[in-house]
Amino acid sequence: NWKMGDFVELEIARIRELVGDRALVLGAVSGGVDSTVGAALMREAIGDRFKAILINNGCMRLNECEQVKANLGEHLGINLTVVEASDLFLERLAGVSDPEKKRKIIGSSFIDLFEQEAIRIEKEAENTPNSGKVEWFLQGTLYPDVIESLSWRGPSATIKTHHNVGGLPERMMNGQGLRLIEPLRLLFKDEVRAIGRKLGIHESLVNRHPFPGPGIAIRILGDVTKERVEIARQADNIFITKIKEAGLYDEISQAFAGLDTNRSVGVFGDQRVWGYIIILRAVRTKDFMSAEVFNFDNSFLADVSRTICNQVEGVARVVYDLTSKPPGTIELE
Ligand code: XMP
Repeated sequence: NWKMGDFVELEIARIRELVGDRALVLGAVSGGVDSTVGAALMREAIGDRFKAILINNGCMRLNECEQVKANLGEHLGINLTVVEASDLFLERLAGVSDPEKKRKIIGSSFIDLFEQEAIRIEKEAENTPNSGKVEWFLQGTLYPDVIESLSWRGPSATIKTHHNVGGLPERMMNGQGLRLIEPLRLLFKDEVRAIGRKLGIHESLVNRHPFPGPGIAIRILGDVTKERVEIARQADNIFITKIKEAGLYDEISQAFAGLDTNRSVGVFGDQRVWGYIIILRAVRTKDFMSAEVFNFDNSFLADVSRTICNQVEGVARVVYDLTSKPPGTIELE
């Protein structure tokens, strides 16, 4: 519609004006619709002076980094740099079970790596026509993220620390003189999707369910280990693949499999097992600020459960989360 078309043109003009003709912009891309639309706008506005990176925090979904790199390259002509940092994140997360601490560790580790990347990118750009300083940092922050970061659930506690709102700006602004550029901060998800379509971003990408920056780490109740991430990742892949096969993906706003590190007893053949509990979650929502549980047929859920128990070693039980938001949140933590 005309409003979206206007938004794209105005925003591209605003970005050009803000950034000027020399500065470089660093952007963290996750492959979700927000960061992809943000990246597409930047690319359109300033071309190769926009530098896209994806940090592998060890908590991404199955084959995600490779897929995001291929998608951005093919559809948007963006040369994504994947920074492999799984070990660093998993080491820093070892033994941490508090959700807010997890978010803080992940958020500040992202910043460490962004800082390193900014330096590397400036060096790389030296003596090229695009030499310049990295002066801006792109974030795909949406309006609900801004609101939730400002919300209260008690006298002094924010509901959650969104690692992508707050934290990042201050340290990077002070340390490195970076300024934050947030082209989507006044938009809701459905508006971002409309803009994505307008920009010609592939439908499968535009319709992708959101995935949080901290990734699988906030879908593990308890402390995060490589083994637990791998189990949650395999279970998630089975759940999402079956949802797609059943033609339900686009009816659901967000779905995933998380892991409870409490263990439950089961019997496999004649063996007693003591394994993790997989929590399946699927919700429908318009704005992600409130959400209702998606109604699957029980036979669908039973099939997912059976497949996960049979194929993912270390799982003894699968449950479906029936909590709407509120009182629950969409993520498990
Ligand atoms: P909640 O769990 O707060 O989720 O109901 C609402 C939406 O926000 C996403 N989410 C996050 N995204 N960093 C992110 O980038 C975070 O820490 C984070 N926590 C929640 C969540 O996936 C859902 O789409």
